[in-house]
Amino acid sequence: MWNTDQLLSRYDPATGTLDGASPVERRLADLRGCFADRGAFDAALALDNPVVYRVGSVAPAEGEGDLHYGVGCVMPGRIGDEYFLTKGHLHAWRPAAEFYFGLAGEGMMLLEDESDGASQMVPLRPGHAVYVPGRTAHRTVNTGLVPLTYLGVYPARAGHDYATIEHCNFRACVVERGGQPVLVPRVRSGVVCH
Ligand code: F6R
Ligand code: ZN
Repeated sequence: MWNTDQLLSRYDPATGTLDGASPVERRLADLRGCFADRGAFDAALALDNPVVYRVGSVAPAEGEGDLHYGVGCVMPGRIGDEYFLTKGHLHAWRPAAEFYFGLAGEGMMLLEDESDGASQMVPLRPGHAVYVPGRTAHRTVNTGLVPLTYLGVYPARAGHDYATIEHCNFRACVVERGGQPVLVPRVRSGVVCH
Protein backbone atom coordinates (compact mmCIF):
# COMPACT_ATOMS: atom_id res chain seq x y z
CA MET A 1 0.00 0.00 0.00
CA TRP A 2 1.30 3.47 -0.88
CA ASN A 3 1.20 6.13 1.78
CA THR A 4 -0.55 9.42 1.09
CA ASP A 5 2.70 11.38 0.84
CA GLN A 6 3.71 9.20 -2.10
CA LEU A 7 0.37 9.79 -3.81
CA LEU A 8 -0.24 13.48 -3.16
CA SER A 9 1.61 16.63 -4.09
CA ARG A 10 -0.05 20.02 -3.60
CA TYR A 11 0.25 22.83 -6.15
CA ASP A 12 0.61 26.30 -4.65
CA PRO A 13 -0.72 28.86 -7.16
CA ALA A 14 0.93 31.70 -5.22
CA THR A 15 4.42 30.35 -5.85
CA GLY A 16 3.74 28.15 -8.90
CA THR A 17 5.35 25.16 -7.17
CA LEU A 18 4.48 21.61 -6.18
CA ASP A 19 5.41 20.47 -2.70
CA GLY A 20 7.74 17.50 -2.57
CA ALA A 21 9.07 18.28 -6.04
CA SER A 22 12.78 18.37 -6.79
CA PRO A 23 13.40 21.90 -8.12
CA VAL A 24 15.61 22.90 -11.05
CA GLU A 25 16.32 26.56 -11.80
CA ARG A 26 17.56 27.78 -15.16
CA ARG A 27 19.11 31.20 -15.45
CA LEU A 28 19.87 33.13 -18.61
CA ALA A 29 23.49 31.94 -18.62
CA ASP A 30 22.23 28.32 -18.70
CA LEU A 31 20.42 29.06 -21.97
CA ARG A 32 23.39 30.02 -24.14
CA GLY A 33 22.70 28.81 -27.68
CA CYS A 34 18.92 28.63 -27.23
CA PHE A 35 18.09 32.11 -28.54
CA ALA A 36 18.48 33.04 -32.20
CA ASP A 37 20.03 36.47 -31.62
CA ARG A 38 23.40 35.82 -30.00
CA GLY A 39 24.32 39.49 -29.87
CA ALA A 40 21.13 40.32 -27.96
CA PHE A 41 21.79 37.34 -25.66
CA ASP A 42 25.33 38.50 -24.83
CA ALA A 43 24.14 42.09 -24.27
CA ALA A 44 21.36 40.96 -21.92
CA LEU A 45 23.68 38.63 -20.00
CA ALA A 46 26.23 41.41 -19.55
CA LEU A 47 23.56 43.34 -17.62
CA ASP A 48 21.94 40.56 -15.59
CA ASN A 49 21.59 36.81 -15.19
CA PRO A 50 17.92 36.43 -14.24
CA VAL A 51 16.01 33.24 -13.53
CA VAL A 52 14.28 32.34 -16.81
CA TYR A 53 12.39 29.30 -15.56
CA ARG A 54 11.96 26.80 -12.76
CA VAL A 55 10.64 23.27 -12.93
CA GLY A 56 9.78 21.01 -10.01
CA SER A 57 9.40 17.32 -10.84
CA VAL A 58 7.79 14.48 -8.93
CA ALA A 59 8.84 10.87 -9.58
CA PRO A 60 6.56 8.67 -7.48
CA ALA A 61 7.75 5.38 -9.03
CA GLU A 62 10.06 4.10 -11.76
CA GLY A 63 8.26 1.00 -13.01
CA GLU A 64 7.02 0.24 -16.48
CA GLY A 65 3.67 2.00 -16.74
CA ASP A 66 4.47 4.56 -14.05
CA LEU A 67 4.21 8.31 -14.57
CA HIS A 68 6.32 11.31 -13.60
CA TYR A 69 5.03 14.85 -13.56
CA GLY A 70 6.23 18.38 -12.98
CA VAL A 71 5.18 21.99 -12.82
CA GLY A 72 7.16 24.47 -14.86
CA CYS A 73 7.15 28.24 -14.47
CA VAL A 74 8.67 30.41 -17.23
CA MET A 75 9.21 34.09 -16.46
CA PRO A 76 8.09 36.84 -18.85
CA GLY A 77 10.82 38.47 -20.90
CA ARG A 78 12.54 38.53 -24.27
CA ILE A 79 15.98 38.35 -25.84
CA GLY A 80 15.70 40.67 -28.81
CA ASP A 81 12.26 39.85 -30.15
CA GLU A 82 12.33 36.19 -29.01
CA TYR A 83 10.32 35.34 -25.91
CA PHE A 84 11.79 33.65 -22.84
CA LEU A 85 11.74 29.89 -23.28
CA THR A 86 12.78 26.53 -21.85
CA LYS A 87 15.80 24.64 -23.19
CA GLY A 88 13.52 22.12 -24.83
CA HIS A 89 14.17 18.46 -25.43
CA LEU A 90 13.21 15.22 -27.07
CA HIS A 91 12.42 12.30 -24.82
CA ALA A 92 15.29 9.86 -24.60
CA TRP A 93 12.73 7.09 -25.07
CA ARG A 94 11.41 8.50 -28.33
CA PRO A 95 7.88 7.01 -28.30
CA ALA A 96 7.07 8.79 -25.02
CA ALA A 97 4.30 11.37 -25.41
CA GLU A 98 3.53 14.06 -22.82
CA PHE A 99 0.42 15.81 -21.55
CA TYR A 100 0.70 19.52 -20.74
CA PHE A 101 -1.96 21.53 -18.92
CA GLY A 102 -1.85 25.32 -18.61
CA LEU A 103 -2.26 26.69 -15.06
CA ALA A 104 -1.46 30.42 -15.27
CA GLY A 105 -0.16 32.99 -17.71
CA GLU A 106 -0.08 32.71 -21.47
CA GLY A 107 2.34 31.13 -23.84
CA MET A 108 3.01 28.65 -26.59
CA MET A 109 4.33 25.15 -26.89
CA LEU A 110 6.87 25.04 -29.71
CA LEU A 111 6.79 21.56 -31.24
CA GLU A 112 9.10 20.05 -33.85
CA ASP A 113 8.45 16.66 -35.39
CA GLU A 114 11.74 14.76 -35.42
CA SER A 115 10.80 12.73 -38.49
CA ASP A 116 10.18 15.61 -40.93
CA GLY A 117 11.34 18.71 -39.01
CA ALA A 118 7.91 20.35 -39.22
CA SER A 119 7.40 23.11 -36.65
CA GLN A 120 4.19 24.13 -34.95
CA MET A 121 3.18 26.40 -32.08
CA VAL A 122 0.22 25.53 -29.89
CA PRO A 123 -1.30 28.00 -27.39
CA LEU A 124 -0.81 27.14 -23.73
CA ARG A 125 -3.11 29.00 -21.32
CA PRO A 126 -5.02 28.16 -18.14
CA GLY A 127 -7.31 25.25 -18.91
CA HIS A 128 -5.58 24.30 -22.17
CA ALA A 129 -4.61 20.64 -22.48
CA VAL A 130 -1.83 20.14 -25.03
CA TYR A 131 -0.81 16.70 -26.25
CA VAL A 132 2.84 16.40 -27.22
CA PRO A 133 3.21 13.28 -29.38
CA GLY A 134 6.23 11.01 -29.14
CA ARG A 135 9.27 11.80 -31.30
CA THR A 136 8.49 15.51 -30.97
CA ALA A 137 10.92 18.09 -29.61
CA HIS A 138 9.10 20.48 -27.26
CA ARG A 139 9.89 23.84 -25.73
CA THR A 140 7.67 26.15 -23.66
CA VAL A 141 7.57 29.86 -24.47
CA ASN A 142 6.12 32.66 -22.31
CA THR A 143 4.44 35.18 -24.61
CA GLY A 144 2.71 37.11 -21.82
CA LEU A 145 3.53 39.64 -19.14
CA VAL A 146 3.28 37.35 -16.10
CA PRO A 147 4.85 33.96 -15.26
CA LEU A 148 3.59 31.06 -17.40
CA THR A 149 2.87 28.02 -15.23
CA TYR A 150 1.92 24.55 -16.48
CA LEU A 151 1.77 20.89 -15.53
CA GLY A 152 3.51 18.21 -17.60
CA VAL A 153 2.84 14.48 -17.21
CA TYR A 154 4.99 11.89 -18.95
CA PRO A 155 5.98 8.22 -18.79
CA ALA A 156 8.52 7.48 -16.05
CA ARG A 157 10.82 5.96 -18.64
CA ALA A 158 10.65 9.00 -21.00
CA GLY A 159 13.97 10.55 -19.93
CA HIS A 160 15.36 13.74 -21.47
CA ASP A 161 17.56 14.12 -24.52
CA TYR A 162 18.85 17.70 -24.31
CA ALA A 163 21.94 17.09 -26.44
CA THR A 164 20.16 16.96 -29.78
CA ILE A 165 18.54 20.35 -29.18
CA GLU A 166 21.72 21.83 -27.68
CA HIS A 167 23.57 20.91 -30.86
CA CYS A 168 21.06 21.98 -33.50
CA ASN A 169 18.43 24.06 -31.68
CA PHE A 170 14.86 24.23 -32.99
CA ARG A 171 14.33 25.15 -36.64
CA ALA A 172 11.81 27.84 -35.73
CA CYS A 173 11.35 30.35 -32.94
CA VAL A 174 8.51 32.30 -31.42
CA VAL A 175 9.03 36.06 -31.72
CA GLU A 176 7.02 39.19 -31.05
CA ARG A 177 5.68 41.02 -34.12
CA GLY A 178 3.37 43.97 -33.55
CA GLY A 179 2.58 42.76 -30.05
CA GLN A 180 1.68 39.23 -31.19
CA PRO A 181 3.64 35.96 -31.04
CA VAL A 182 4.49 34.54 -34.45
CA LEU A 183 6.42 31.46 -35.54
CA VAL A 184 9.37 32.25 -37.81
CA PRO A 185 12.31 30.24 -39.15
CA ARG A 186 15.37 30.65 -36.97
CA VAL A 187 17.91 32.50 -39.08
CA ARG A 188 20.78 33.58 -36.85
CA SER A 189 22.21 30.14 -36.21
CA GLY A 190 25.84 29.36 -35.56
CA VAL A 191 25.53 25.69 -36.38
CA VAL A 192 24.11 24.34 -39.61
CA CYS A 193 22.30 21.12 -38.82
CA HIS A 194 19.27 21.04 -41.04
C1 F6R B 1 9.25 16.88 -19.07
C2 F6R B 1 8.87 18.16 -19.68
C3 F6R B 1 8.73 19.40 -18.80
C4 F6R B 1 10.04 20.17 -18.93
C5 F6R B 1 9.98 21.60 -18.40
C6 F6R B 1 11.33 22.30 -18.48
O1 F6R B 1 9.38 15.88 -20.02
O2 F6R B 1 8.72 18.28 -20.85
O3 F6R B 1 8.43 19.12 -17.49
O4 F6R B 1 11.05 19.44 -18.30
O5 F6R B 1 9.07 22.34 -19.18
O6 F6R B 1 11.83 22.25 -19.79
P1 F6R B 1 13.24 21.59 -20.13
O7 F6R B 1 13.21 20.18 -19.56
O8 F6R B 1 13.31 21.56 -21.62
O9 F6R B 1 14.29 22.39 -19.47
ZN1 ZN C 1 9.13 16.48 -22.06
